[in-house]
Amino acid sequence: MPTDQPADRNLALELTRVTEAAAIAAAKWQGRGDKNSVDQAAVDAMRHMLSTVDVDGTVIIGEGEKDEAPMLFNGEVVGNGRDPKMDIAVDPVDGTRLSALGMPGALAVIAMADRGSMYAPGSLVYMSKIAVGEEAKGMVDINAPVAHNLEQVARAKGKDVDEVTAVILDRPRNEETIKEVRAAGGRIALIGDGDISGAIATAIGDSGIDILLGIGGSPEAVTAACAMAALHGEIQCKLWPRDESERQYAMEHGLDLDQVLTTRDLVDSDNTFFAATGVTSSSFLRGIRFYGNRVETHSVVMRSQSGTVRYIETAHHLDWLDEARVID
Ligand code: FBP
Repeated sequence: MPTDQPADRNLALELTRVTEAAAIAAAKWQGRGDKNSVDQAAVDAMRHMLSTVDVDGTVIIGEGEKDEAPMLFNGEVVGNGRDPKMDIAVDPVDGTRLSALGMPGALAVIAMADRGSMYAPGSLVYMSKIAVGEEAKGMVDINAPVAHNLEQVARAKGKDVDEVTAVILDRPRNEETIKEVRAAGGRIALIGDGDISGAIATAIGDSGIDILLGIGGSPEAVTAACAMAALHGEIQCKLWPRDESERQYAMEHGLDLDQVLTTRDLVDSDNTFFAATGVTSSSFLRGIRFYGNRVETHSVVMRSQSGTVRYIETAHHLDWLDEARVID
């Protein structure tokens, strides 16, 4: 082993402790029907645990503005102030409602990339999205008809179109896309929430999901891009203003509504880190389980520089979590 170079550091491994804490705190509120308490618990745990990480971080993507939920706010300085200087995207719970209802698919998520690399969508809370895994990378186009993109994915994966599954957020604004997928003969997995998980599912393991389509949150797009970079997949997005005032806002702030935002535009870095812990179970992560004096977490950790994807199962002792102020 050469000793003249410092071993590069996988920050994402440290970030796992942050998402584990957020997921455990959120899980305490699972199924209690109270979205804000889920979010508040996760935000508090995440902020507290982040203060222990050796990083000089600035939150660029702090989710919560849309529905005035508790949040780590944009511009908030996090970490213990030591180098490296990084941009941070947080989603203490992606799928807060799922968690509050005890439904599958909620994750605690954090991503990091070099300082100055993350795209800031300002007050535009939605983007139109398309995401695919490594096999179909470079073959889809957000401006092309849905049928064409499904055919491209089918070709890339050696399937027929009727074997291609598109994951889409179940929202009235996505009805047209849903119709187009059906008309083209594709299969659909509708999700109630959680399109970070949806994007990742296109690019990870044997999830049965081939493509993400439809309009979802802008913060989630940037966060998902950090994962897609590590997974060698692809996400393309376009800002989707809800009304005339958002169009006006875009014009005044130099945000181009016609621009196709590639993975690179969303996060312009070869050094992205992504960590997520299941709050409730999803296709690729198990949710939080309490047993005896322990809590079990299941996390995924990735970074783009190496393309490594790690799964981490951890059994935490409740006494320690109490001492570390993760849960009361
Ligand atoms: P939160 O749980 O963080 O609020 O986000 C859930 C989510 O479903 C995201 O995954 C998605 O991008 C966004 O909300 C869609 O927004 P909306 O619920 O307003 O349609």
